[in-house]
Amino acid sequence: MSAQLIDGKAVSEQRLQYVAEQVANRLAKGLRAPCLAVVLVGDDPASAVYVRNKKLACEKVAFTSRSHELPASTTQEALLKLIDELNADAEVDGILVQLPLPAHIDSQSVIERILPHKDVDGFHPYNVGRLAVKMPLMRPCTPKGVMTLLDAYGIDPKGKKTVIVGASNIVGRPQALEMLLARATVTVCHSATQDLAAEVGQADILVVGVGIPNFIHGEWIKPGAVVIDVGINRLDDGRLCGDVAFEAARKRAAMITPVPGGVGPMTIATLLENTLDATMMHD
Ligand code: GUN
Repeated sequence: MSAQLIDGKAVSEQRLQYVAEQVANRLAKGLRAPCLAVVLVGDDPASAVYVRNKKLACEKVAFTSRSHELPASTTQEALLKLIDELNADAEVDGILVQLPLPAHIDSQSVIERILPHKDVDGFHPYNVGRLAVKMPLMRPCTPKGVMTLLDAYGIDPKGKKTVIVGASNIVGRPQALEMLLARATVTVCHSATQDLAAEVGQADILVVGVGIPNFIHGEWIKPGAVVIDVGINRLDDGRLCGDVAFEAARKRAAMITPVPGGVGPMTIATLLENTLDATMMHD
C-alpha cells in the first residue's frame, strides 16, 4: 500500500483564494484591507525566510503589511515599546512577532504584551486559555491549519485515537487542545515518554512536531493511519524533510503529508485567516 498524499499546498491556495475574495468584498464596500504587522528581531536565516513568505502571502491576498526588522541587539524594552505602538495603532489588525527571539529577550513577556484580539498567532495565554475552555478566539496557526487540512480531506477526528508527538507551545500543546475540541481521544508524547514506538503504533491520527529529521520510524506507524508531519528540517545537502521517515511511513499509512507542501503552507494561510477575523472584530 502507498499512502495518499495530503496536498497542503492545494488546500492552502483554496483558503488564500477565499481570503482574497473577502478582502475584495471589503474594498468594494469601502472598508479597508486587513493590515498585518510582522516583527523580526535578529538574523536567524530560517526566520527571515518565514517572514518573507508571510509578507508575500499578504501581498497575494491584497492585505497591507508592515515590516519591522530589528537588529539582534534590540532591547526587550524597545521591543515592548514597539508592541505598545502597534497595539495602539487602529490601522494594525494583527501583530506577529517571529519566534525564536534572541536569548536576552523574554519571549513570554513579549507575547503577553500583544493585545489578545491582535494576537493572530494565538500564542497569548488568553487565547490559549480560550481554546482550553472550548471557546476559541485566535487559534494558533499551525494546529488550526492541521484541522483545516483534515477537514478538507474528510477526516473527522471524533472518537479517533490521536497521538501527538511534541509538547511545544507552538504545535503540540495547542494541537492537543484542537483535537480535544474535535472530540478525539488524545495522547501527547514528549521527551519523558517511555515507549514512543508503542504510543505511535496506537495512533489512528498521528501529528508530529519535534524538529528532528526521521525521528518517527515508518515501521512504528499503525497500518491505515493518517500521518501529519509538522516538522520542517533542512538537511546538510539543502533539502527539506519532516520529522517522519517518509518513504517507510507512506508504505503503512493511508494518508500522509509531504514535506515540503504539507502543513507548512497551511500555517501561512491560517495566519491570513486569523488576520481577516481580527480585522472583522475591529470593524
Ligand atoms: N516560529 C515558528 N513557528 C512560528 C509561528 O507559527 N509563529 C511565529 N510567530 N513564530 C514561529
